[in-house]
Amino acid sequence: MSRSVSIYVCQSCGAQTRQFFGRCNNCGEWNSIIEEKINQKSDKSIYTKINSPKEKSPYRSELISRTKDQIIDRIPSGYDELDRVLGGGLVPGSLVLIGGDPGIGKSTLILQSATKIAHERSVLYVAAEESAQQVKLRWNRIENSESNLHLLAETDLELVIKELDYLKPEVAVIDSIQALHDQNLSSSPGSVAQVRECSAALQQIAKRQNISLLIIGHVTKDGMLAGPKVLEHLVDAVLTFEGDRFASHRLLRGIKNRFGATCELGVFEMQADGLSEVSNPSELFLSKTSAPGISTIVTCEGTRPLAIDIQALLNPTSYASPRRTATGVEINRLHQILAVLEKNMNLSLSRYDCYLAVAGGLEVEEPGADLGIAAAIVSSHKDIELAEGVVFIGEIGLAGQLRLVRQMQQRINEVIRLGYKTLIIPEGIDTSEFEANQKFKILKASNINQALIYALNNI
Ligand code: TYD
Ligand code: MG
Repeated sequence: MSRSVSIYVCQSCGAQTRQFFGRCNNCGEWNSIIEEKINQKSDKSIYTKINSPKEKSPYRSELISRTKDQIIDRIPSGYDELDRVLGGGLVPGSLVLIGGDPGIGKSTLILQSATKIAHERSVLYVAAEESAQQVKLRWNRIENSESNLHLLAETDLELVIKELDYLKPEVAVIDSIQALHDQNLSSSPGSVAQVRECSAALQQIAKRQNISLLIIGHVTKDGMLAGPKVLEHLVDAVLTFEGDRFASHRLLRGIKNRFGATCELGVFEMQADGLSEVSNPSELFLSKTSAPGISTIVTCEGTRPLAIDIQALLNPTSYASPRRTATGVEINRLHQILAVLEKNMNLSLSRYDCYLAVAGGLEVEEPGADLGIAAAIVSSHKDIELAEGVVFIGEIGLAGQLRLVRQMQQRINEVIRLGYKTLIIPEGIDTSEFEANQKFKILKASNINQALIYALNNI
């Protein structure tokens, strides 16, 4: 017998209760709980069903060593940068969720990729947010050759699933999951229940028909993917597309990936005719000017080394406590480096305001940037330019000692490739293979003082 009951679901975290609350007990959000109707089909529990004499449970498990290996035949997305983040291409039967701020270029990226894939395979693009004409207009801007790309402007889940069933494409795009809705649910599109049900239904059909599904998702104002956490758990990969609205470059990152590493970074540039790949991103983040307060570092995003400029500005403060701001670097890291410099180099930095920025709006989280940050600060404080063509790599300990960071070899190769002359790094690594290179010099320092003496004295 089927009966309908109400449950109360938090729109923020997806927690379910039997009772209405003004504030979610799970995540603490106010006014986020709404009522949902669910149909309970049967009162019989699954255990009673299995234990009934009619039901015989088949023997389904097998030894993992005997389980057949499956060779994954990945579908290239048409862009090396996207493939890099996906771990080598799209996996048939998998779900990939792409999130990002409105207007950042999610639809453009996926439409471009879908168009490229459609040159060889059948692809369905479901436009739930825009009309077919709007998508066509964008498509005209980026591409105008013939391809096997089908377009469906539809928001009803049932019709989308019917179309997937009928067309049987190899790749399908849902733009976006928040705009789809299931007629059988009373809640509005974009609510937790709708997103959960729509994605579960899409997952079923993707697995059954081996369709690679690319799902576009919204992000909330604090940068989280909108919708329940179950959505992130359900999909095989979660990518975020981010970037500064005022800069043309866009960064694609993997947050979760069942088929590859998550720390990879893909770089694109938004142009008048769509997004183009940036296969040499180091050049994008270098300011190519020399002035006091600018230093160059090499950071590693996944397996990719990236050379970027760090800029620091120190001014005598006119406040009781000095102002410290950091863009692209965590503020606590800046405080820590300032404290180490103050103690180890006898600089009275507490009387200076300090502004720190990473060129190009990139976020640098890893500690390998410490030495470059310290060099930029001291260079601005002393108003002396750093020696030309010097690059810094190294983490600074609280006692002023320098520590090596991961993937030194790749970083050194990138520095050489970009034509820099000098590299200052911590001690403890064998660099004999680079010594034959006459044009390139590696200086090793054990502490911050020594490294900065090298940097400021044009050694
Ligand atoms: P869009 O893909 O619609 O963003 P999202 O789906 O993430 O909301 O991209 C929108 C922005 O990209 C829009 O502000 C204009 C810009 N754009 C270009 O600069 N060049 C182009 O060729 C295209 C298609 C978009
Ligand atoms: Mg869009």
